[in-house]
Amino acid sequence: MFKIAVAGTGYVGLVAGVCFAEIGHQVTCVDIDENKVNLMKSGISPIYETGLEELMQKNYAAGRLDYTTDYREAYRDADAIFIGVGTPEQPDGSANLSYIATVVRQIAETIEKDCLVVVKSTVPVGTNDKVEQFIQDFLVNDVKVEVASNPEFLAQGSAVKDTLEAARIIIGTESKWAEELLMKIYEPFNLPIVSVNRRSAEMIKYASNDFLALKISYMNDIANLCELVGADIQDVAQGMSFDERIGSKFLNAGIGYGGSCFPKDTKALEYLAKQHGYALRTIKAAIDVNDDQKTMLYKKASKRLITFNGLKVAVLGLTFKPGTDDLREAPSLENVPLLLEQGADIYAYDPVGADNFAKVYPEGKNGRGTITYVDNVEAALDNANVCFIFTEWGEIKAVAPETYKKCMRTPLVFDGRNIYAIEAMKEAGVEYHSIGREAVQRESQKESKNLDIQAS
Ligand code: UDX
Repeated sequence: MFKIAVAGTGYVGLVAGVCFAEIGHQVTCVDIDENKVNLMKSGISPIYETGLEELMQKNYAAGRLDYTTDYREAYRDADAIFIGVGTPEQPDGSANLSYIATVVRQIAETIEKDCLVVVKSTVPVGTNDKVEQFIQDFLVNDVKVEVASNPEFLAQGSAVKDTLEAARIIIGTESKWAEELLMKIYEPFNLPIVSVNRRSAEMIKYASNDFLALKISYMNDIANLCELVGADIQDVAQGMSFDERIGSKFLNAGIGYGGSCFPKDTKALEYLAKQHGYALRTIKAAIDVNDDQKTMLYKKASKRLITFNGLKVAVLGLTFKPGTDDLREAPSLENVPLLLEQGADIYAYDPVGADNFAKVYPEGKNGRGTITYVDNVEAALDNANVCFIFTEWGEIKAVAPETYKKCMRTPLVFDGRNIYAIEAMKEAGVEYHSIGREAVQRESQKESKNLDIQAS
C-alpha cells in the first residue's frame, strides 16, 4: 500500500482520494480552504454525490483518509501526489492552468523523497511535459520526481461508481519506473489498464469527452430535422442503437449538453487545434449545434405565445443533469434570463439545485420578471400558463400527465428532455412540445383549426 497525497478536493480530487483510501492506500487530501477541510473531517462532503459521504466517514474512521491545509506535511514523504485541481475555461476557450502551476511549485519545494506526480486534471496535450520541467526548475531537494498523466472519466452523480468500476484506467508515463508505480497503485481496483505515453493519455481524455459531446450534438441536429420531416427522434435513436458500432448510450436528444466537462473540453480542443494551425471542424460543429440547442425550447415557445409578460411560468429542473446540484453550463441558465427579460413570473422547482440557482437569481424581482422557488412540482404548476422542463429528475418524470391538465391554468408544456410519451400527453389533453417529435395539440385547438379550414 502507498502513501498518497491528493491536491484539490473538487469532484476529481476528492472522489479519487476517497476511492484510493477505500482500496487500502493511506491518503491525505489537501485543500487551501480551512472551512472545507473541517467540514470533510466531520464527515460532510462539500459536493453532492451519491455514496461519497459514507465512504468518507468509513475511511476517515479507519485512519486511511485525512484532510489538511498543510500541503508541506502531506507532500513531504508521499509516494505519489495526484493533482485534481480545476482547469477552468478562459474567455478564448483555452484552459487556465494557474491552479496546477501553484500546486506544482509547492510540490517541487516540499518533497523530500522520490515521488511520482500524477496529473488527473484535464490539461491540454503537452502540458505534462511542461509540468515536469517546471518541477525540475523549482526542485529543492535531491530526489527523483517524474510526472504521469492519469485522466479522469467520472460523471457527476455517479462519480464513486465510475471510479471504483471504471471502464478503463488510462496511464500516460515516460519511464518504466513511473509506469510500474502507477500500475501498482491501481492494481487493487482490478480494472483494465491502458498504458500509453503522456501525450496520448492527455489526448484520450479530450478525444473521449469530445466524441460524446459530438454524439449528443449529432442527435440534436437529427432531432431538429426529424421535426421538419415528421420522424420521431426516439424511434430513430432506438433503431440506431441495435447497431453495436453505434451503441445505445448518449443518443438522447434534448436541449444540449452542459456540465463542467463537455462545454469546456470541446472548446479547449478546438483551441489547441487552432494553435497548431488546424481547424477541428467536427468539434466546431458540435459546439455550434449545442449553442443553438440550448434555447431551442424558448424559441419554440416564443413562436407559440405572443409574450411571456405577466405569465406564470413553471420551470421544472435547473441543474445541468439529474443527480447533481451543479449548474455549470446548464440550459436553465440560458433560458431563465430570457424569460425574465420578457417579464415572466417564474415558479421554479429543482430537488437539489434551487439554492445554487438562487445565488445567481435571488427570489423576488429580477429585471422585468420575478422568480419564486417552490419545493414540489405541483406548487410550480399551480395555475401556470406554461411549463418548461429543463432537467429529467426522477421527481419530475414521476409526475403524471394528468397533473399538468389538473394543476395548470393552460396545460401547455415545453419539454427539453423528452420525458413523456406522446400518446400519454394526447390522452391527458395536454399541449405538449418536445424535441425531435410530433407536437401534441389540444382537442380545442384542433377544433378551432378545423373551423378555420371550414370557414376559408
Ligand atoms: C461527462 C462525461 O460523461 C465523463 O466521462 C467526464 O469525465 C466528464 O464529463 P458529466 O458532465 O458529469 O460527465 O455528465 P454526463 O452524464 O456525461 O452528461 C453531460 C451532459 O450531456 C448533460 O447536460 C446531459 O444532460 C447531456 N446528455 C447526456 C444529453 O443531452 N444526451 C445524452 O444522451 C447524454
